[in-house]
Amino acid sequence: YPIEDLAEKSTFLEVAYLLMHGELPKREELHSFVDSIRRHTMLHEDFKKFFNALPKDAHPMAACAASVGALATFYPDSLEPDDPRQRAISLHRLIAKLPTLASYAYKHSIGQPFMYPDNRLSYVGNFLHMMFATPCEEYVVNPVIDRALDRIFVLHADHEQNCSTSAVRSVGSSQVDPYSAVSAGIGALYGPLHGGANEAVLKMLRRIGTVENIPAFMEGVKAGDERLMGFGHRVYKNFDPRATIIKKACDDVFEVTGVNPLLAIAVELEKIALQDEYFVKRKLYPNVDFYSGLIYEALGMPADMFTVLFAIGRTSGWVAQWREMLDDKDQKISRPRQVYIGADERNYVEIGSR
Ligand code: CMC
Repeated sequence: YPIEDLAEKSTFLEVAYLLMHGELPKREELHSFVDSIRRHTMLHEDFKKFFNALPKDAHPMAACAASVGALATFYPDSLEPDDPRQRAISLHRLIAKLPTLASYAYKHSIGQPFMYPDNRLSYVGNFLHMMFATPCEEYVVNPVIDRALDRIFVLHADHEQNCSTSAVRSVGSSQVDPYSAVSAGIGALYGPLHGGANEAVLKMLRRIGTVENIPAFMEGVKAGDERLMGFGHRVYKNFDPRATIIKKACDDVFEVTGVNPLLAIAVELEKIALQDEYFVKRKLYPNVDFYSGLIYEALGMPADMFTVLFAIGRTSGWVAQWREMLDDKDQKISRPRQVYIGADERNYVEIGSR
């Protein structure tokens, strides 16, 4: 299915179902899937202690990787990859609990009470509620924001053998539980060359500060001092279709939130880069991370939460790929071959004689 169609017509949970089952769900199938996800949103109560043990300034991606790994300690009834029921429960738990874990990481960092999920809300609405509601203030989810973030999760849901997905497959191939495998994926996604690029883009735009500073910044990029974050892709040597959709989604969001002033810098950077020989020759185009941070910031998300949002969307792809791998009869434990290029065989030399 074209990503444009899914972004326009589908929903994140429907796409998550599609990834796991290979077919779009019928109405009753979708209903029962969404219902199951809804019922798994709550966390074991002791998770509060887990988060409270982390430093307040812990990066939420590090907190998420740790807490997803910790799911394996809280839910020992769903660790067995070969048991179909345990497998199904663990996958639903991962998709359902990621937004709750993400919001706990955020609430802990700002010293606010953790919010329980409100299962009357949509998947995204619930996430926004857990992020921004407090026990003293009602938080009303704006449907435009709900729809925009849901669409962004669709765009991030899966993307073949990217760094984090291959990490999930590699770790999962040892037949460890899926919580441990997905935790490894979150670690891989955290890096600035992968999912961490969305946070890095925002920091870069803030640092550039004004459109007038762009030429000097670009000279530095071309001299190899730094990279233009949010540009380039290992696979796309042309426009990343997701970037085009996200750029359009900016308009919907900014209509509600007001325009992010950094947009002007991003648009100008893109315009210059698309005409500049350095970028044209290397086929560097904006990727999915170039505009997503501008939307997240307009939604009131702090920059260090951006990659966590990527992780929430990508969890659906990770678990689908993990399951596909286990179902593959030819799958063996991951074991990249090492080509040794060091010294020939040597005798051990005692420490005093080296
Ligand atoms: N800015 C400036 N130069 C760049 C950039 C960039 N963003 N990306 C690549 N180049 C140059 C690089 O210096 C090299 O030049 P030369 O041939 O002169 O040495 C050439 O382009 C090829 O670079 P590469 O690192 O071999 O390309 P790659 O396909 O291995 O890297 C990439 C892909 C995404 C890691 C890289 O383009 C990059 O670092 N981009 C910035 C980070 C970023 O936006 N990451 C998000 C990726 S998309 C979403 C995701 O997967 O998370």
